[in-house]
Amino acid sequence: MTNNVRPADMERITTPALANKFIEEQLSALRAQIGSKKVLLALSGGVDSSVVAALLIKAVGNQLTCVHVNHGLLRKGEPEQVVRVFREEMKANLVYVDAVDRFLDKLAGVSEPEQKRKIIGAEFIRVFEEEARKLEGIEFLAQGTIYPDILESGPVKAHHNVGGLPDDLKFELVEPLKFLFKDEVRVVGEALGLPHSMVYRQPFPGPGLGVRCTGAITRDRLEAVRESDAILREEFAKNGLEGKVWQYFTIVPDYKSTGVKENVRSYEWPVVIRAVNTKDAMTATVEDIPFALLQHITNRITHEVKGVNRVLYDLTPKPTGTIEWE
Ligand code: XMP
Repeated sequence: MTNNVRPADMERITTPALANKFIEEQLSALRAQIGSKKVLLALSGGVDSSVVAALLIKAVGNQLTCVHVNHGLLRKGEPEQVVRVFREEMKANLVYVDAVDRFLDKLAGVSEPEQKRKIIGAEFIRVFEEEARKLEGIEFLAQGTIYPDILESGPVKAHHNVGGLPDDLKFELVEPLKFLFKDEVRVVGEALGLPHSMVYRQPFPGPGLGVRCTGAITRDRLEAVRESDAILREEFAKNGLEGKVWQYFTIVPDYKSTGVKENVRSYEWPVVIRAVNTKDAMTATVEDIPFALLQHITNRITHEVKGVNRVLYDLTPKPTGTIEWE
C-alpha cells in the first residue's frame, strides 16, 4: 500500500536550507528505492517534471532517461530550453521526440474542444509508449505528482485526461514530490539550480496552445498564438508583471474581421489577451493592465504577428468565463 497522506509533522519547505534538507533526504530515499536500476520520466519542461528530473539526475545520474515530447503546442522557446537545461547543462540522458507533424495531422479538422483534448492526451501516451518500448531494462516510472494532485483540489490537473500506459508497460512509480505543495516544489527547484524562469513559470495546460487556437487548429493560426504569446510574455517581463499576474496568454479564435494595413483592406484574425489572478483557479479576477501597456502590446502584435489585424482584452472574470477559452 502506498501512503498518500502528508505526514502531520512534515515541515513546510519555505527556505533554501529546508529545501536542501528535503533534497538530501530524497536523494537517499531515491537511491534506496532505485538501486542500480533504470528510471523513465516524461519531461514536459513544466515545474513539477523538471524538479523531478533534476532530483533524479542528482540521485541516479544516467540511470534516468527523460523523454521530452514536442507536440507542437508548446510556447515559443520551450523545447529548446528543455534541451539546453537538461541535456547540455545537467548532462541528462534526454530523448527529444519531434512529434509536431504527428499531433497536428491528427488534430487537423477537429474543432470540438474535448475531442481535441482527448486526441492530444491519447497521442501523447502513444508517443511516450513507443519511446518506452525502445528502451531496455526500465523498471521505474518517475512522475511529477504533487500533493494537490492527490487531494484533487482545484481544476488545474483535474483536466488531465492523459490515461495510462498499457498493462505490459506498468512500472513501479517514483514520486518524490507527492507530499509537496507547488510553492515548496519551487523552492526545491531553485535549490537544485534550475533556472528561475523554469521554476516560477505560470501554469500551462497539458494540451498547451491547442486550447488557445480555438476550433480546428491550423499551423498558421497556431503560429499566431505562439508569436503573440511570446510578445505578451516579453512585455509582461519588461514591465514588472511577470510573477505578479497568475496567468496570462493569448487566444486566436477561428474567425476573421476586416482591417486596413498600408491602405490595403485586410481580412485577418483577432488576438485576444487574457490576464487573470486567482488562488485556486476555481474563480479568477482580471488584471488591471495599464492602458498604455495594452496599447503598446497591441501595436507590437498587429505589426509583428502574421495574419493578425486586431487585439482585444478579455475583461471577463471567472465566473462567468473560464480562464481558458476552450
Ligand atoms: P479553466 O479554463 O477551467 O482553467 O478556468 C482553470 C485552470 O486549469 C488550466 N487548464 C488545464 N490544465 N489541462 C491542464 O493541465 C487542461 O486541459 C486544462 N484546461 C484548463 C488552465 O490553464 C487554468 O490554469
